Formats: sequence, structure tokens, C-alpha cells
Amino acid sequence: MIYAKIIGTGSYLPERVVTNQDLEKIVDTNDEWIVSRTGIRERHYAADDQNASDLALIACQRAMQAAGVTAGDIDLIIVGTSTPDMVFPATACILQDKLGVKQGFAFDIQAVCAGFVYGLATADKFIRSGSVKCALVVGAEVFSRIMNWQDRSTCVLFGDGAGAVVVKASDTPGILSTHLHTDGSYRHALATPGTVEGGKVRGSPMLTMEGSTVYKFAVKAFEEVAWEALRANYMVPADIDKFICHQANQRIIMHAAKKLALPDDKVVLTVDKHGNTSAASIPLALDTVVREEKIKAGNTILLAALGGGFAWGAALLKW
Ligand code: UT7
Repeated sequence: MIYAKIIGTGSYLPERVVTNQDLEKIVDTNDEWIVSRTGIRERHYAADDQNASDLALIACQRAMQAAGVTAGDIDLIIVGTSTPDMVFPATACILQDKLGVKQGFAFDIQAVCAGFVYGLATADKFIRSGSVKCALVVGAEVFSRIMNWQDRSTCVLFGDGAGAVVVKASDTPGILSTHLHTDGSYRHALATPGTVEGGKVRGSPMLTMEGSTVYKFAVKAFEEVAWEALRANYMVPADIDKFICHQANQRIIMHAAKKLALPDDKVVLTVDKHGNTSAASIPLALDTVVREEKIKAGNTILLAALGGGFAWGAALLKW
């Protein structure tokens, strides 16, 4: 039996830190509102000359170093991003070239904030089938580029960053199971609806969100998909050692954790320092706790994400 196992993690946050106090100067908001509604205190913004592939490159180099693999070992690259470098080619192709990977194949996944979990699920299938031996799964975003600075209900929430994992074929698990869902009837609730036509942008290229619709859906979806993953593996919430939920809002994460009766020390929170980095949020949070040595061999880790689409999903891992 072939399993897929994460053997190294890496992440990168751009240098520029933007605090809630910084945002108070450009939009009608305040630190108290942002912290009490979301838990966010600061986020990072990419420099003008940094694209998603540049952030991804550093995250991947760190993950590959941690895993002890080189460019010659990678035969699949999947990038979850909603803020690609360009319309095409895929950011994954640009990343492949920057990494010096000459073999295998690379593609992007568009599942917004669920992009990393969708990517991990896809890599898991390729590895279990025997067609891929070693994959890079990446979440990389520059959401600061699609903020509407006139909309205080969204522009304070998001940040830029990248996270990556090296996933390798293994005799032992690994990724225990993954569970993906989509409900396109909610596609209006979280969208960047613009596109390119005739050399111009058609529609708005800025992020729009019905915050309360997303909030209500997310708390229910996280609880349901967590139980789905646990049941598939004959586990109960007490078996989870770390819960790494999409870092959009501390209140949503803690609500989901409460429904699963998880104590605070099992819940990973990085939203205070990262903001919502969409597809990058879970691999950024995972790398943070791995480097803090808060995850031990044999631990059971639940990842859960939800984003525009709505697209959501979970992955249950044995570390
Ligand atoms: O990444 C994909 C997943 N995304 C999410 O999971 C996000 C889900 N949604 C949320 O996290 C929350 O709905 C928000 C954080 C976006 C909003 O929190 P809320 O508690 O639902 O606030 P609200 O939208 O109901 O707004 C409450 C009030 C409004 O004022 P009035 O109408 O009550 O006077 C807003 O105008 O807060 C006001 N407000 C702000 N005030 C200061 C909205 N944004 C701001 C702001 N600063 N930045």
C-alpha cells in the first residue's frame, strides 16, 4: 500500500508588516473592531515587485530544505492561488522554472481559501496511484492586490504570504483521508468577479464578500467536514492533536473547536499575525507550529478550509 506523507514544510511572509493602527490611517476602522470581530492584529503585504510565484519560491525552498529533497526529486507541483502572477501560464509553471525543476508536471488549483486542501487531496491521489513520487503542494497569495480600499468590511481582513509542503510516497500514513465539497450556488457570496476582455478589465477586479453569509456557512461546514473526516477513520475529536483551520476569523475557528470540544492548546491560531492569506493560510499555520516543535511524530492533525465557491474540505493527517 502506498501512502502520501508530508516530509517537510516551509513558508514565507513578505517583509512589510501592516498593523491595524496603520489601516486606521487609510480607512474608517479601528483596532478594537478588527481585533474583537476577527482576532487580526497585523498582516504582511508583498512589495510591488513580488508576485505569488516569488513568495511561493521561498516557501518551497524552505520546505525542500526541511525535507532534504532537491529540484531533481520533485515530479509534481500544485499551487493553490486566486492571485496568480498572470492569466496564463499557471503560477505553478513559473514556480517550476524558478525552482529549477526540469521534470514532472505543474498546475494551479483555483479553490480560493480551500486551495491548499484541494491541492493536498490531489497530490495524495497522484501519489497513492503510484504515478508521482514526490510533490510540492503550495498556497501562495497576494490578496493585497485585490482589496477594495473603499470597503472597510473586507480590506482589513486579508494579507499576503505563501506556505508549502513536500509530500512523498511512503509505506506508512501519511495523509489518512481528504474530503472535498463545493456548492456553486453560493458563488456570489465571496468573489472577485472581474475578468479581462479586449485588453481591459470587465467587471470589478476587487474582492467582494457577504461576510455574515460566509460566517454562518463556515461554522456549519467546518463542524460537518471535521466529523466526516473523523468518521472515515473511526476516530473521535479527542483523537485530534492539532486542529489547523483556515485562518480567516478567530471567532469562526474557536466556534468550530468548541463544537468539537477541542481544548485551546490543540487549536492553531496564526490569524492574529497573518490575517486571512486565503490558500496560504493553512500551510503558513502548519509551518509555524512545525518550526515551534509543537507537532510530534505520531500526532493526528486535522486541516479544514473554506473559501469562495463555496469550496471547502478537510484532510486528516498522521504526522
Ligand atoms: O476566507 C474565506 C472565508 N471568509 C470568512 O470566513 C469571513 C467570514 N465572515 C467574517 O469573518 C465576518 O462576517 C466579518 C469579520 C467579515 C464581519 O464581522 P461581523 O460581526 O459579521 O460584522 P458585520 O459585517 O455585521 O458589521 C457590523 C458593523 C457594521 O456597522 P453597523 O451597520 O452595525 O453600524 C459595519 O459597518 O461593523 C461595521 N464594520 C466596521 N467597523 C469598523 C464593518 N467593517 C468594519 C471595520 N471597522 N473594518
